[in-house]
Amino acid sequence: MRHLIDITDLTVQEIDELIATAEDIIANPARYAEVCHGRKLATLFFEPSTRTRLSFEAAMLDLGGKTLGFADAATSSASKGETVGDTVRVVSCYADIIAMRHPKEGAPYAAAQVATVPIINAGDGGHNHPTQTLTDLLTIHRERGSLDNFTIGFCGDLKFGRTVHSLVAALSRCKGIKFVFISPPELRIPDYVKENTLDPLGLPYTEVESMEDAMPELDVLYMTRVQKERFFNEADYLRLRDTYILDPEKLSAAKPEMRILHPLPRVNEITVDVDKDPRACYFKQVANGKFVRMALIMKLLEVHA
Ligand code: CP
Repeated sequence: MRHLIDITDLTVQEIDELIATAEDIIANPARYAEVCHGRKLATLFFEPSTRTRLSFEAAMLDLGGKTLGFADAATSSASKGETVGDTVRVVSCYADIIAMRHPKEGAPYAAAQVATVPIINAGDGGHNHPTQTLTDLLTIHRERGSLDNFTIGFCGDLKFGRTVHSLVAALSRCKGIKFVFISPPELRIPDYVKENTLDPLGLPYTEVESMEDAMPELDVLYMTRVQKERFFNEADYLRLRDTYILDPEKLSAAKPEMRILHPLPRVNEITVDVDKDPRACYFKQVANGKFVRMALIMKLLEVHA
């Protein structure tokens, strides 16, 4: 039985296969419409979500399976003090696979130690978000035709941004990637990401504060939200939340073929008039998320079209 807790739980070859399967699902959805008939996905969301939970549920429904779960821990017995481990043991009796989001880093790993069905980490605190990374990789692959040889700028909250941490880990295994980390000093990429992932491989990266200075060299700009829910101090959040706002004027310095990604939700960091720029890919990213999650569910349940 396989779980997906960290993106590196998948080999590079397995990620390539998931991308290929997602591409085939996009081209031939009818082939996949019943492959999970009789199977159930449970979504256990101890933290809010729109895209991840609903795309997992849509993915299982489009595979012919069924879904159950909760979107708010307050409506589950976690509110009475039940542990994550007990919750997952119980839900393992009802479902064939579990997608779980939790505010505590490591909670999906703990769940996987006791689960009797595959666990998918749908985001754990400020740590990792591997299925967003699969979504991002599919989007980059569809937009650029490959996952190699480009410069990517990560902009915003790189400290608590779990989507950033997982995508850096995934791209560190690709060829010819240059990383530009754009953030205020308070929200810099964590040392553990540099020390455990980038430095041992000798991968090139720079850390800068100015989005404008970095813009001309980027092939992909990965914008992120400054996350209110990760701050202990509201004054710090208010001071930092509008550090970066991408608008058409700032984009005028970007390459014509640059691609703009954002895991969403956005708050203020991309103005709505950027949405019509052909370089904006964040709503395509949303659509891609369902297809790559369909591919992942099939892989973990070991079902084939
Ligand atoms: N990208 C993402 O994780 O969005 P949600 O928080 O809406 O699931």
